[in-house]
Amino acid sequence: MPLDALRQLYATLPRLRGMGLLGQTPGIEHEVILPFASYAPWRSDAAFKSMWTTIKDYTLVDNYRAYELWDLAGQACRLSGDVIEVGVWRGGTAILLASRAAAAGKRLYACDTFEGVVKADAVDPHYSGGEHADTSLGFFVAFLRKQQIKNCTIAQGVFPDETGWHLVGNRFCFAHIDVDVYRTAKECFAFIWDRLVVGGIVVFDDYGFSTCEGVTLAVNELRDGLADGVILHNLNGHAVIIKIGVAG
Ligand SMILES: C[S@@+](CC[C@H](N)C(=O)[O-])C[C@H]1O[C@@H](n2cnc3c(N)ncnc32)[C@H](O)[C@@H]1O
Repeated sequence: MPLDALRQLYATLPRLRGMGLLGQTPGIEHEVILPFASYAPWRSDAAFKSMWTTIKDYTLVDNYRAYELWDLAGQACRLSGDVIEVGVWRGGTAILLASRAAAAGKRLYACDTFEGVVKADAVDPHYSGGEHADTSLGFFVAFLRKQQIKNCTIAQGVFPDETGWHLVGNRFCFAHIDVDVYRTAKECFAFIWDRLVVGGIVVFDDYGFSTCEGVTLAVNELRDGLADGVILHNLNGHAVIIKIGVAG
């Protein structure tokens, strides 16, 4: 597209800002969000750029969320404990997290059914179960091998019901919960939060997407009762929760 046409298009974007969008859950409002700030550190971080080139065809997250995972996991890996992801699909964000964990001498625990989403409820109108089954354990293992990742433990099955027992004694410094629906989001958080070290970080994907209002609901419900964590709403589709103490 010619530069002038691009400039004109860019100039029209502010007119969209604040325009209301339809959601389906009462109390969860949506609008076109266009932040005014433009700082873009992902453009100059050579290691991240190389990682993004490796994973972009294997992930459903965009470069904004991938960069936030890269940045926060890197910081959290200064603490004790390992890294966990629930919701691996084809392995894009898992490879990114495994690489951050490896640099700090830690493991990544990668949890997925590899048969798609489970436990969709009435609060997840866009899901009925089985979405994202277009992957397999073998596909993910091949990707790990190709990238020469050796610090990843795979837990195949419904988390935490079928695979949590492997991890009851573990401690985590960073968790990525990318499971699309309400009930699983809540159950994953409950399991992981008890095992998260102080200062550790949980990142929920799906927060704020009109197609994943169940996850937004699950995180918003945490706001009422979480005495030992702070919850940050990032406009990119992440909710970030930092553990600030031990609930007494
Ligand atoms: C959106 S995909 C994950 C995307 C991935 N993080 C990426 O890089 O794009 C969601 C995944 O969550 C998995 N999943 C959902 N609920 C689960 C559960 N309770 N236990 C294990 N896996 C689950 C699905 O099988 C699916 O692969």
